[in-house]
Amino acid sequence: EKGGHDYFMLKEIAEQPRAVADTLLGRVGADGRLTLDEMRLSDQQLRDVEKIIIVACGTAYHAGMIAKYAIEHWAQIPCEVELASEFRYRDPILTRTTLVIAISQSGETMDTLMAVRHAREQRANVLGICNVNGSTIPRECDGVLYTHAGPEIAVASTKAFLTQLVAVYLIALYLAQVRGTKWGDEVFAMIQLLATMPEKVEAVLGTVEPVRELARSLANERCVLFLGRHVGFPVALEGALKLKELAYMHAEGFAAGELKHGPIALIEQDLPVVVVVPPRARPILHDKIVSNIQEIRARGARTIVIAEEGDETVAPYADTLIRVPAVPTLLQPLVATVPLQVFACELATARGHDVDQPRNLAKSVTVE
Ligand code: F6R
Repeated sequence: EKGGHDYFMLKEIAEQPRAVADTLLGRVGADGRLTLDEMRLSDQQLRDVEKIIIVACGTAYHAGMIAKYAIEHWAQIPCEVELASEFRYRDPILTRTTLVIAISQSGETMDTLMAVRHAREQRANVLGICNVNGSTIPRECDGVLYTHAGPEIAVASTKAFLTQLVAVYLIALYLAQVRGTKWGDEVFAMIQLLATMPEKVEAVLGTVEPVRELARSLANERCVLFLGRHVGFPVALEGALKLKELAYMHAEGFAAGELKHGPIALIEQDLPVVVVVPPRARPILHDKIVSNIQEIRARGARTIVIAEEGDETVAPYADTLIRVPAVPTLLQPLVATVPLQVFACELATARGHDVDQPRNLAKSVTVE
């Protein structure tokens, strides 16, 4: 049942190329345009949207953070992201032209479900991004876009996360398509590029052996920090969450720009720091993070750098360099997250933990 793997988590990590492909399947037309009719929200409803609020928990929340960058860029609609457990305890301003997007693998997370109910009471339209067919959240939403990750058994979310990313890219690009934003050509090109993502994810999986070795060598560390910028920031948060929940280690993710506002004080000799480097196509993001790497290395940190193939600028400052395929910035989380999943899984295993059943955690959290 684990398909020859020791853990469901390893099996699910390996299934990611297929999961990404399945989530794209049937959604890109022969003319290169998206069709998301199954979503149950009309194009007119989507043209009327004035504000988007995304609600989710844990890993799904990180997918929501990435969605914000994609939606504001391609669809040019103001977008907020909020932890579902916080959303309903303030007084969010929602109207008929607000679209609330709830992201949940299980479709049963109580915090997210309560946020959905709260949003619908305020007359907002609610769209679910869920993996489990017919679960409670999609039943209570106005519309739903299913991810096709297949059943996720391991407690830590991996393939569901990648398919949530695909779903949010599809929604952002579809909104851009129906609203006709100024990014028409780029949107068209991105839709084509999405189709190549399964092979890119496959390529990453083919190169993770050194990540495993690295993870084993860090099994006795007490703390690992993760840094990222732009969509690399939620990727850093996701890398840290995986390490906490599986290896029971102190792990924290930061926005690289925040380093100098406090966290740099944590940097000490030999502290492992993972840095997600944006593609060189965005020099403004890329060059800033290269200086961040230099800063932390000057203070003795052990730098573990995730950078695209061909990026030689980072090599002199990386104690370990992890390569991922070159893709556009907004799509980079699809490839950059994978080594972090493998890293957490291997490190936890090296510490003797069962990665499928981490202590104190349940697969679906049906209490608030
Ligand atoms: C982390 C993890 C959790 C879930 C969170 C939301 O690996 O799995 O953080 O992402 O509990 O669960 P869903 O997506 O089912 O609402």
